Amino acid sequence: MKEVYAKTEDITTLDKCIESNIPVLLVGETGTGKTTLVKEFAKENKKELIRVSLNGNISTEEILGKFLLAKEETVWQDGILTTAVRKGQWIIFDEINSCSPEILFAIHGLLDEEKALVLPEKDNERIPAHKDFRFLASMNPDDYAGTKTLNQAFISRFVIINIQHIAEDNEIKFLINKYKISEAKAKSIVSLGSELRKMKTNQEIDYFCSTRDLEMVAQLLSKLSLENAFKVAVFNKMNALEIEELMTKSPTFAKFIDTHRSTLDYKIERLKATIEEAKKYESKKVEIEKLKIDQERIKKENNLERVGLDAQRVKINETKNDINKIVDEKVKAKIKSLLS
Ligand SMILES: Nc1ncnc2c1ncn2[C@@H]1O[C@H](COP(=O)(O)OP(=O)(O)OP(=O)(O)O)[C@@H](O)[C@H]1O
Ligand SMILES: [Mg+2]
Repeated sequence: MKEVYAKTEDITTLDKCIESNIPVLLVGETGTGKTTLVKEFAKENKKELIRVSLNGNISTEEILGKFLLAKEETVWQDGILTTAVRKGQWIIFDEINSCSPEILFAIHGLLDEEKALVLPEKDNERIPAHKDFRFLASMNPDDYAGTKTLNQAFISRFVIINIQHIAEDNEIKFLINKYKISEAKAKSIVSLGSELRKMKTNQEIDYFCSTRDLEMVAQLLSKLSLENAFKVAVFNKMNALEIEELMTKSPTFAKFIDTHRSTLDYKIERLKATIEEAKKYESKKVEIEKLKIDQERIKKENNLERVGLDAQRVKINETKNDINKIVDEKVKAKIKSLLS
């Protein structure tokens, strides 16, 4: 297959599933060629491939369809999946693990023997799939957020192909052919990439160095040094902790990264500052708690004081009334004595 490197076993499985109309889910790290492989397959089979990325803001309406108001009546407009089902196109749902429950519900039937799409918005109308329609999906492995949303019943409807990154020697060939760089340069790029992948496998870093990254390095080499190309295409995508890990665990990278010390130092300094800030907040938290308790206490005392003052005020008023009464009596008595 032109321009795609994949294990023969994976190609055979994909071929068989497409022939037998079995839904396939390709699972692999980002940039390992999942989309490229399916695109090439479609091209070889002279089929149109529709790609849907579920990671963005694509709506259920865009996928399934919606009612539109046209000349005072409502008409149904098919979404991209519905069109593909009717026309017999191939469709790949990238990042299927980000699929909304509504869409999952609608496509369940497509993945079963009955091969029909259900449109909940259109009174659960069932649209039988065209004989050439094929459903494929892709996602990154389990450690990416969101995978947990796929339930077992859904997953069980797929054949799963685990896609690995291109083998080292093929990756070298691939870079030479595609970017016309020297063998020596291609080898340096791939060996650095492989070391990063080893560290990912050993869980020393989270970042997966993809063929996509290495392609960028190869492209930049005509203008940048290997160090600088790696810096912008790979290292700058990692976080400060990963960079520190690289510096301490790998002598190759320690030497390599040294040229970018200033940027990295900046990143590390920033991280340290953030940690300091967090620590300060921790100690401040105790102070804030204390202040809150004090505030409560003062509030309570104030309340008590207010109650006390109110009681005193009532007493004063009562006394005032009493005095008024007495004065009243005395004045009345005086008037009486004057009149008599
Ligand atoms: N096995 C491969 N064969 C040929 N090219 C590859 C392969 N793996 C990666 N590439 C190259 O890397 C780039 C990314 O590949 P692709 O988009 O197919 O990856 P993906 O697995 O679909 O990634 P994502 O999970 O991010 O969607 C493409 O430009 C492609 O040329
Ligand atoms: Mg893809």
